[in-house]
Amino acid sequence: MERETAKIDEFIARYGLHQGALIQVLQDIQGEFHYLPREALEYVSEKLGTPLAVAYNVATFYNVFSLQPKGQNHICVCMGTACHVRGAQSILDKFRRELKIEVGETTDDLKYSLDKVACVGACALGPIVVENVTYHAHMKLDKVGKLLKRGGRK
Ligand code: FES
Repeated sequence: MERETAKIDEFIARYGLHQGALIQVLQDIQGEFHYLPREALEYVSEKLGTPLAVAYNVATFYNVFSLQPKGQNHICVCMGTACHVRGAQSILDKFRRELKIEVGETTDDLKYSLDKVACVGACALGPIVVENVTYHAHMKLDKVGKLLKRGGRK
């Protein structure tokens, strides 16, 4: 945890030692470790003077946070109405088959996690797949394999 706390101290220094920095610090921790380890939540709460329950509430309220380890590549398929009518379900199914995992799961090698989301607010560009922070617009079935290959899948 020593290496982790040094990194978390860096994040805290970025935003300041106050309770208002909680979400930003948690975002940086999620980005660095691909989830929010329990020890990290405890450490941040203590440092910022935020009750641990508040940190847990934030961590479980926002989709972007996860209390379980996520893959290096987080694939999120938009299943909102606009994306759904343009074939999002087939795209999600193709990711499930290719990765051999279900929605909410992570591959054993921790390379990929698969999730779905209600709407990411870019309906005109659907179907949308979000890969970490990159939006893939007008997603097609034959782009699924290419996207996975770019992320290191053979
Ligand atoms: S429904 Fe997919 S971006 Fe809105």
